[in-house]
Amino acid sequence: MKKLFLLALLIGLSINVSAQNVSVSKARFQRGDDPNWAKPELNDASWSEIDMTRNWDKQGYVINQGYGWYRVHLKLSSSMIKGADQQKIVVFNLPKADDTDECYLNGKLIGKTGRMPGDKGGYRSAWSTVRNYPVNVKDGIIRWDADNVIAIRVYNAGEPGGLFDNPLTVRVPNAIEGLSMHFTDVNDGQAHCDVQLSNSYPLTTTGKLDIDITDRETGKKIGGLSKKLSPKQGKPIRLSVPYDKKKICLLTATFTDAKTGKKISQKFPLKYILTPPAPAAPRFNGAPLFGVRPNSPVIYRFPVSGERPMKFTADNLPEGLTLSESDGVLSGKIRRPGNLTFTVTAENAKGKASQEFTLKVGDRMIALTPPMGWNSWNCWALSVSQEKVMSSAQALIDKGLADYGYCYMNIDDGWEAAERNPDGTIAVNEKFPSMKALGDWLHERGLKFGIYSSPGDFTCGGYLGSIDHEKQDAESYNSWGIDYLKYDWCGYSRAHAKERDKGVASYVRPYLLMQQFLREQPRDIFYSLCQYGMAKVWEWGPFVDANSWRTTGDINDTWGSMYDIGFQRQAGLAPYAAPGHWNDPDMLIVGKVGWSSNLRDSRLTPDEQYTHITLWTLLASNMLIGCDIAQMDDFTVGLLCNHEVNLINQDILGKQADRVLKQGDIEVWARPLADGGTAIGIFNVGDEDQQVDMKALYSDIAKAKTVRDLWRQKNLSAGELNCTIPTHGCRYLKVTL
Ligand code: GAL
Repeated sequence: MKKLFLLALLIGLSINVSAQNVSVSKARFQRGDDPNWAKPELNDASWSEIDMTRNWDKQGYVINQGYGWYRVHLKLSSSMIKGADQQKIVVFNLPKADDTDECYLNGKLIGKTGRMPGDKGGYRSAWSTVRNYPVNVKDGIIRWDADNVIAIRVYNAGEPGGLFDNPLTVRVPNAIEGLSMHFTDVNDGQAHCDVQLSNSYPLTTTGKLDIDITDRETGKKIGGLSKKLSPKQGKPIRLSVPYDKKKICLLTATFTDAKTGKKISQKFPLKYILTPPAPAAPRFNGAPLFGVRPNSPVIYRFPVSGERPMKFTADNLPEGLTLSESDGVLSGKIRRPGNLTFTVTAENAKGKASQEFTLKVGDRMIALTPPMGWNSWNCWALSVSQEKVMSSAQALIDKGLADYGYCYMNIDDGWEAAERNPDGTIAVNEKFPSMKALGDWLHERGLKFGIYSSPGDFTCGGYLGSIDHEKQDAESYNSWGIDYLKYDWCGYSRAHAKERDKGVASYVRPYLLMQQFLREQPRDIFYSLCQYGMAKVWEWGPFVDANSWRTTGDINDTWGSMYDIGFQRQAGLAPYAAPGHWNDPDMLIVGKVGWSSNLRDSRLTPDEQYTHITLWTLLASNMLIGCDIAQMDDFTVGLLCNHEVNLINQDILGKQADRVLKQGDIEVWARPLADGGTAIGIFNVGDEDQQVDMKALYSDIAKAKTVRDLWRQKNLSAGELNCTIPTHGCRYLKVTL
């Protein structure tokens, strides 16, 4: 050990040694590239000294699209392997590398991460990957109790470059260190969770995997399995564990190594469905009204669940309107302002239901309840195509989401061609063969069609914006049958930078301009402002006749993002929402999302997803689904298709919830409803489960004649008002005094 420290001092390295662990942060360094630099016998005494935990550009070396080599001399004591759990492998854990690396031990390649420019398949960065390179002791590469040379070749594409983050550590891992578990919760038909056990080290570890499924409400074990397994490197083992998706379950997986008794254990909350199944008989799930401007086409699909075929009829249907018998799509035009009330009946083999419905016709009558539908951004981002929009629209109908009021199908960024047509009109790219045909196809099904642009020269995704072409673009939208425009500031920041006076008027101007042209079109176009809440858009949004305005930057599928946007930044905005004009805390992040052509399950836990939908419906937010509907599972359908929950969002009083109480990690948000009731969300935003006496928490609950659990669609007894709210979870109540 003494010798090791002396060596370290001699060559100017800092080394930390413990029994099975050696750490080094300093190395010798040379810019450039030469295969001879991997050789242990090379004399590197003239190389400079470098810190491997900080990028090389921070230490005076600017190397872009180029190479640098690090060399570390290290004496490895044979004592580190004696007495360890296993004597087969030693792991070389490298610092992270901007962008790719190759690692040589005593002249032999022991690991590589990312691809160098000359490699098959071309360069690929792997800057954020953890580098653990196992070396088999049997291979004899390690020189015990002698000088070892670790040479690391690094390629950097662009600043920052070189090794960074953690020191180089040489470790003898214990028997289970290379094991990891991965869970995939498949919530269709028979729900099951696939548990994958992998071993990243070339060690055979034999042991037992115990999987327990416990009911989180009763604490009782209700399922699971036990199996003896030997996970090997490169051969992950997959086990499928069925569970009851109607129960709130926790899966705990524990692997115990037979030889040492060491364990790895992980908990995974499973998806659960609270929404009761819809009855087979017809049920109207939408608000009892819809608004349209005089002479604009009416497009309204009655949201009615129940078995198909179904027959729709109307009593006293106003002149100028027709109702399609088979799918309940209302269409036509009304010339004069006014309220037209009529009764619509839906009938199927299992029964019959009716709704008294009012069509409100007037200049300011659109968006009387928040828009419900879909937007392509959170799933496909710039890889959106006409085919993907149609597939999601078809799934919206087939999976029954249209029966709950989801109707807008909105294309976000990525549809525009690289250049405008010679006459200045906007052109679409090859992924959209015909906007007009797509619009017609959606309208035939009673769905609505949305699009995206920017008041600037370019959109956020680098596509063409509408600057200097606002009138032409509004006319194109009309000719395609557009019903919704999301108008995203983004590239306008360049035009705005040139403004001398950057007061509120400079923020209003581009939005007012487009609104004038939209209003000239002979159809209703929902106007959605997207400028992230600048210049307190909620204060002036109604005056540019905006129907909604984003209040924050972009959401992503993490608790941090959802908490910040939904809880922190919406508090206090309630007074600005009203029928026709809504605060928009951004699109939904449930289901399969990914902002690319690679989709994955939302990273929100099931409890967080209940919180998300509860809060967004309370906030009278736009309800735009952000996932691929074709791949939507039963859990997500349950989240989005609870008519009692959705009717809070669609409540015709149009009052947004505000935070009425914050007690430690418990927040209460409440909104008054048109029928005199109050919708109340009780949220646990903390990291621990909490016992909550809901009566004691909020006086309206104690005073209430009825307390309804909206997710479970049942009235609660006094005894049920004391409950545990899981971390990041919630309870959603409607109280009637
Ligand atoms: C962002 C916007 C996103 C999405 C994206 C498209 O500015 O907030 O919702 O529309 O642009 O590039």
